[in-house]
Formats: sequence, C-alpha cells, structure tokens
Amino acid sequence: MSAKHKIAIFASGYGSNFEAIATAAFAGVIPAEISLLVCDKSEARVVELAQKMGIPSFVFSAKDYASKADYEREIVSRLRAAEVELICLAGYMKIVGEELLSAYEGHIINIHPSLLPSFKGARAIEQAMEYGVKIFGATIHYVDSSLDGGRIIAQRAVEYDGNSIEEVTAKIHSIEHELYIQTISKLLNKE
Ligand code: GRF
Repeated sequence: MSAKHKIAIFASGYGSNFEAIATAAFAGVIPAEISLLVCDKSEARVVELAQKMGIPSFVFSAKDYASKADYEREIVSRLRAAEVELICLAGYMKIVGEELLSAYEGHIINIHPSLLPSFKGARAIEQAMEYGVKIFGATIHYVDSSLDGGRIIAQRAVEYDGNSIEEVTAKIHSIEHELYIQTISKLLNKE
C-alpha cells in the first residue's frame, strides 16, 4: 500500500465537508489520513464529529492568545508535530495570517460556496441569491493573503431557480463534498 499523505482540516462549524473528506480518507478513496482538525469554536458540531471518528483535534479560542500570530504559531507547531503536508480549510471562519501562510505557503486550500471571483467573503450564497443568479457553485482555491482571491484550482456549477436558501445551500454542499474529495485526490496523486 502506498504511503498516506497527512492532511489537516480547519473548520469552525457544522463540518459536512470535514465529514465527507474524513469518510473518503477512511474508505481509501483519497490517499490521505486526516491527522488533525483545527477548530476555533469548542461548541462546533465538527469537534464532536472528529471525536466520534477518532480524529485528533486542536481546539482553541483566539481570546486566550495575545495575538493572531501567537495562536497561529501554536497551530504551526501542532501541524509540524503531526507532519501535515496539506491544509484544507472547510468553513474555517478566521482569516489565515502571516505565520500560517509563510509556514505552509502553497499548501493551504479553501472551499468557497460561489463561483469566484463572484461573491467573495461571508454570506456568499445569500449574496448570490440576493443578486438573483441562476447558476450557483463552489470554488476550491489556494489561500494567499487576499480575501478568497488565491489561484483557482477547481470549480463546479449548480443551477437553481428558486428562492429557498436552504434548498440551494443543500445543493451547493453536495457538489462541494464531491469537488473537495476529487480535488484533494488530484493534488495528492501529483505529489
Ligand atoms: C461551506 O459551504 C464552505 O464552502 C464554506 O463554509 C461552508 C462549510 O460547511 N467555506 P460545512 O461546515 O463543511 O458543512
């Protein structure tokens, strides 16, 4: 069996992408092991999920640190200890700062629920809905110091012509899971 790549997932909330990626890793669909969940919200569902799945997590609260640089230094040391090669952001609600970016440059990817460069930032699905688009989507991109502006790796579109935010969110989530798994697989198989 070929060696498994070590991945960290950063998430702050529900964790449906975390669950999909971890399930794919356990099933051998991607040549990876989820070595660490990094989460900034102790009450998030994703923390419980990681526990149930037996995945180690580092849960922190930004307010326990003097600065972003301080908590990111701690994250970097945890990532190094776990020999993480690739960081996948999946609903991580913090902006990645200099400490993390410089330590893992070119090895941090994010999933965003819109067809970038449209609808950057928070509430992307709501923004698209308010604009009245009929084609929604998801984008996976490298993370740099810009807001949702790093080089695009993969995108997928989904048509929706209705007015239920729940319905369109569910559609986007299901394409996100597939797209994230396929993209991670492609990136890891290249290495
Ligand atoms: C996803 O829609 C992702 O695109 C965005 O945050 C959401 C996270 O959802 N960055 P979940 O926690 O993975 O269910």
